[in-house]
Amino acid sequence: MNNLITLDEFIIRRQKDFPFASGELSGLLRDIGLASKIISREVNKAGLADITGIAGNENSSGEAQQKLDVMADNLLISCLKNSGECCGIASEENDTFVPIHSSGNAKYVVIFDPLDGSSNIDVNVSIGTIFAIYRRKSTSAEVQLEDFLQSGTEQVAAGYVLYGSSTMLVYTTGKGVNGFTLDPSIGEFCLSHPDIKLPEKADIYSVNHSAYREFEPGVKKFIDDCIEDAFKFRYIGSMVADVHRTLLKGGIFMYPGTEKATNGKLRLLYECNPLSFIVEQAGGKASDGRSRILEQKAEKLHQRTPVYIGSSQLVEKVEKLIQETKGNN
Ligand code: AHG
Ligand code: MN
Ligand code: MN
Repeated sequence: MNNLITLDEFIIRRQKDFPFASGELSGLLRDIGLASKIISREVNKAGLADITGIAGNENSSGEAQQKLDVMADNLLISCLKNSGECCGIASEENDTFVPIHSSGNAKYVVIFDPLDGSSNIDVNVSIGTIFAIYRRKSTSAEVQLEDFLQSGTEQVAAGYVLYGSSTMLVYTTGKGVNGFTLDPSIGEFCLSHPDIKLPEKADIYSVNHSAYREFEPGVKKFIDDCIEDAFKFRYIGSMVADVHRTLLKGGIFMYPGTEKATNGKLRLLYECNPLSFIVEQAGGKASDGRSRILEQKAEKLHQRTPVYIGSSQLVEKVEKLIQETKGNN
């Protein structure tokens, strides 16, 4: 086979993009790649082994944890602990951040949603892992909350792994977006989608329609226009998979706020920031309906935000409609 480029090789080649990098960031990306291969193997066995269903606990947002949520969380934490390049993690599944003492003066923290779309696990529908890497800010012996509450513009790398009809890892370090597909026969992620650009064509919309009545007027008008314009409607129910489709096919994914849940459901640090970094790097936009997701101030780890993400023209249109109809009901 010609020109087969593995993830490891690609990361090493790209290290020269960071003149002062010591290789720690590359190491971290490789560790996440390794953890995700193990998660992928376990996800593929779901249904055979006793790993589907709820774990019997709730996470910090009060949602039932699935057994695979817990397993993916533990796997990522242990791979990052062993790596020596990460001094602390924050995960959607844990109440607070976890310092990693064994990593000496490692300079990165990693924030992740170990399994996104967990309600889809038991029904064999695509799920994924989402991650964001930040440079540590504090200088004390142990990492501090402020190291995790950075704005999305501070991300040094972000990515996701999609466990779908194939397993794909997509990441950015701020110099474009590249996608790798896991070849199970050799156990390697191989470059399959170099320099991903979100298509200009924008005729797909994705939102949980059942909440339509609770959306603000601008969002309702936007959805009405999508229907009027005969857009295709697609909604998987795993943000990572819905955004992946948007990245490859164009369109918009939305999770608006409602009167009861003004900030919607999705989490700024674990889901929206990393996916927004990727979409922007691919030429798209990500907004909370008013301003750029990446510039939102993080005040707490499990903060939620409305999100409109995808093709620039559609994100700009929904922002405009929200502004124009503000205050109408
Ligand atoms: P998680 O499984 O990490 O809790 O996230 C699920 C999220 C997200 O992936 C998806 O877009 C959204 O929940 C779907 O929510 P609705 O069922 O309200 O549409
Ligand atoms: Mn999630
Ligand atoms: Mn999750």
